[in-house]
Amino acid sequence: MAQDALKRLAAEAALAYVEPRLTREAVVGVGTGSTANCFIDALAAVRHKFDAAVASSEASAERLRRRGVAVLDLNAAPALVVYVDGADEVDSRRRLIKGGGGALTREKIVAASADEFVCIIDESKLAPALGAFPLPVEVIPMARGLAARALVRLGGAPEWRQGFVTDNGNIILDVHGLQIEDPLALEREINNIVGVVCNGLFAANAADVVFVASPRGVTQM
Ligand code: A5P
Repeated sequence: MAQDALKRLAAEAALAYVEPRLTREAVVGVGTGSTANCFIDALAAVRHKFDAAVASSEASAERLRRRGVAVLDLNAAPALVVYVDGADEVDSRRRLIKGGGGALTREKIVAASADEFVCIIDESKLAPALGAFPLPVEVIPMARGLAARALVRLGGAPEWRQGFVTDNGNIILDVHGLQIEDPLALEREINNIVGVVCNGLFAANAADVVFVASPRGVTQM
């Protein structure tokens, strides 16, 4: 089965999970990326059942609006009933690497604003340990060199994602080769580097539920 079909399956499973939580006042947090796009398309079909969405990127906000879903600024929204998003890597404890699309900071903010974080992936994203996928780190542009040197001291090989600017006006360093034995400790350590805005480890706020799509069907982790 093609990967796109698996992403759609995971998105449909998430919608079935989310639908009973929807009320006319509910606001739904929506992530970024190709799997999140499948969820946006599925969610639009039930847009009469909830009030609005908060998006983790300008691209997702635009896609939601085009499908007739009202989009709120997070500061104007009540607590979100749920946040649904994809991931680049997921371990058996539902800890994640995210940010392949560069939206990691807003993703972490919107996820932290939701009562529940539902992650949707195809089975290729499952990993015995995090770190094979280069860890995205959002950095204030003037701190690029400083942050890169600190990341090297942590054992990584940072690579500047050239030509890419985040929705927050910052740059991304993709850190290769990290041995991530303790995701929570590393998430905190990287966040303490001066000039780092946020990193793509989601261990402090791991997913509550993960739907994994494979050719054999969708399983819940
Ligand atoms: C966006 O910044 C990311 O965190 C995405 O959620 C992640 O890269 C997964 O994207 P796909 O669903 O496109 O694989």
